[in-house]
Amino acid sequence: MCPSCEGTLDLSISKSEDAEIMEGELRCASCASSFPITRGIPRFAKLENVETDKRATADNFGWQWQHFTQEDAKYAGQFLGWITPVKPEFFRDKVVLEGGCGKGRHTMLAAQWGAREIIGIDLSVAVETAFAATRSSPNAHIIQADIYHLPLARKFDYAFSVGVLHHLPNPRGGFLSLASKVKAGGRISAWIYGAENNEWITRFVNPVREQITSQMNQRALLQLSKIPAACLFLATKLIYRPLNRNGSGFAKHLFYNDYMNSLSTFGWREQHTIVFDHLVAPTAFYIPREEFETWWRDAGAKDVVISWHNKNSWCGFGIL
Ligand SMILES: C[S@@+](CC[C@H](N)C(=O)[O-])C[C@H]1O[C@@H](n2cnc3c(N)ncnc32)[C@H](O)[C@@H]1O
Ligand SMILES: [Zn+2]
Repeated sequence: MCPSCEGTLDLSISKSEDAEIMEGELRCASCASSFPITRGIPRFAKLENVETDKRATADNFGWQWQHFTQEDAKYAGQFLGWITPVKPEFFRDKVVLEGGCGKGRHTMLAAQWGAREIIGIDLSVAVETAFAATRSSPNAHIIQADIYHLPLARKFDYAFSVGVLHHLPNPRGGFLSLASKVKAGGRISAWIYGAENNEWITRFVNPVREQITSQMNQRALLQLSKIPAACLFLATKLIYRPLNRNGSGFAKHLFYNDYMNSLSTFGWREQHTIVFDHLVAPTAFYIPREEFETWWRDAGAKDVVISWHNKNSWCGFGIL
């Protein structure tokens, strides 16, 4: 539906390839706003018109997901950790919405796990990567839109957002906007950075991220971030992984062990992506559990399960 007036959108197609509409237009029957479809993606957000802070976030992540396009067999397990207690069978036949799909790695998994339709939305040019990644899945669709102005009706059985809400200027507002598209009785999952156990980041890393790394040219940051990524890589492979595997129980005393151990199975490229991802974000909130709980109350969610993930972030799941 029209993101401005909630009117119906009429579709005109100028180019199709197989079942995919590649070029065309969606025009609102009520207010005459029109939205182009280019390279297979309906475009509801004009990046040059969005607020400066949101645009800076979209520019930086857009670059990231056009560079780090790799796939990794471990994404499935990682995704299930973030949307706990949801399991692959849960997706079967559901109409699913993903807030902030990035390169589409989770959009693709939802499609493979049998979602009837999965719609991934993202504000940035990452949608180009996500479209290419999901091109062969007829049940996966990508839309370029702002999570605060979704061009969608309240028709979803399930919505999820992984690693996105804490990068928004108003994380709670983004969550409520996503929740407003889920039908009564539908489910929602969200994963966000936690405040707890991350004081060292908020004190020492955030000033560097805010003042330097998120302001840098992305190509330069790509090179610079190899230094902390190399330290992380060596620490996880030479210290955390062996000590967590030898069963002595000593590993649990190591700094940030749960998270470092979870990273230790990933190879160089994925670890470099993760370090770059942390340094490139202009906005990142570290949210206390108590505050996260209020979002679920405000959304009117029932049977909410909030879990502490790797002792540094929060996963939430509930019924709307
Ligand atoms: C850290 S990435 C996570 C991507 C994906 N969920 C994943 O886990 O691979 C954050 C994503 O949020 C998107 N994003 C940021 N602000 C947004 C907004 N206002 N509306 C929609 N997406 C947004 C960014 O473009 C980026 O792709
Ligand atoms: Zn309209």
